[in-house]
Amino acid sequence: MITTVTLNASIDKAYYMDEAICNGEVMRVSRCRNSAGGKGLNVARVIKLCHEDVLATGLVGGYNGQYLESLLSTDGIAYQFGHVSGETRSCINILDPQYGSTEYLEPGCVITPEEEKCFIELFQDIIKKSDIVTISGSVPKGLPCNIYQRLIQMIKNEHKKVILDSSGESLKEGLLAKPTMVKPNKNEMENLFGIEINTVEEVIQYAQEIAKMGIQYVVVSLGADGAVLVMKDQVLRARPPVIKPVNTVGCGDSMVAAFAVALQRKYTPKEALAFAIAIATANALSPETGSFEETQCLEILQQVKVKECEKGEYVCH
Ligand SMILES: Nc1ncnc2c1ncn2[C@@H]1O[C@H](COP(=O)(O)OP(=O)(O)OP(=O)(O)O)[C@@H](O)[C@H]1O
Ligand SMILES: [Mg+2]
Repeated sequence: MITTVTLNASIDKAYYMDEAICNGEVMRVSRCRNSAGGKGLNVARVIKLCHEDVLATGLVGGYNGQYLESLLSTDGIAYQFGHVSGETRSCINILDPQYGSTEYLEPGCVITPEEEKCFIELFQDIIKKSDIVTISGSVPKGLPCNIYQRLIQMIKNEHKKVILDSSGESLKEGLLAKPTMVKPNKNEMENLFGIEINTVEEVIQYAQEIAKMGIQYVVVSLGADGAVLVMKDQVLRARPPVIKPVNTVGCGDSMVAAFAVALQRKYTPKEALAFAIAIATANALSPETGSFEETQCLEILQQVKVKECEKGEYVCH
């Protein structure tokens, strides 16, 4: 079973507007859609669409927390959350014809040390029944910034696999516990090293720095340019076909989900990368976040190009 961790969950509200939004005015929303949000829950939805067993965990609280659980039930996703006394936040995404997407993200509630302790106990049980765990997104206030490091250590102590997809300090701290796989995008990689990356060769060079820390699979996603998968002694570069994206939010989450499924199915690195690119690209063609059409994904898979880069020669177009 694959478990997804979402510590900073939210009720995601999409407001679809017929007209451009205007600051300081009363705006009427033409259509509204609520979903269980947070990056790990996008991952869970995609794993479910891949027909693999998935369990969503993390922290939820209050009426919004109950609502989030009911939304997951509707999606047929099993969950086992730690419950906190604060209210799960809402994140609003206003979609209008002029500005596209305008997001308002609530700060979320503060987690207490007692709530953290209860979650750690619950998580210990969850690890035992999981084969692979994915950890995604930001850390809520109140939790220490090395919480991911601690969770990864717990997972590795049980000899299970773990994929980390985060940014900033929580990524930096998490890497110290050597997760099985990390999936930064170019931006997250730049922030990690405090540098600017301009070429794929540089992406590979810095990914190799991460691999040297003892991380088995380093995937750097590059949006429409595809991704690289860097391992100790192998570098793979993959490119998706050119598409007209509909919604690229959650493409990275879809990629994480696909890699978790690939690890579960013991795909080779080449197969895993091609599969992940196909699912992530299919997600870009779907209006919903954390969703894809199976037939579209299979078509894309035929067109994904994966190339092994020779040592010392990383120009692989
Ligand atoms: N415009 C696009 N065309 C084709 N494929 C895309 C496009 N955007 C994203 N993808 C696919 O999705 C993968 C992940 O995208 P990206 O690098 O944008 O992740 P991300 O920034 O982590 O996204 P998020 O955090 O919003 O989920 C890419 O490697 C690629 O396979
Ligand atoms: Mg991402």
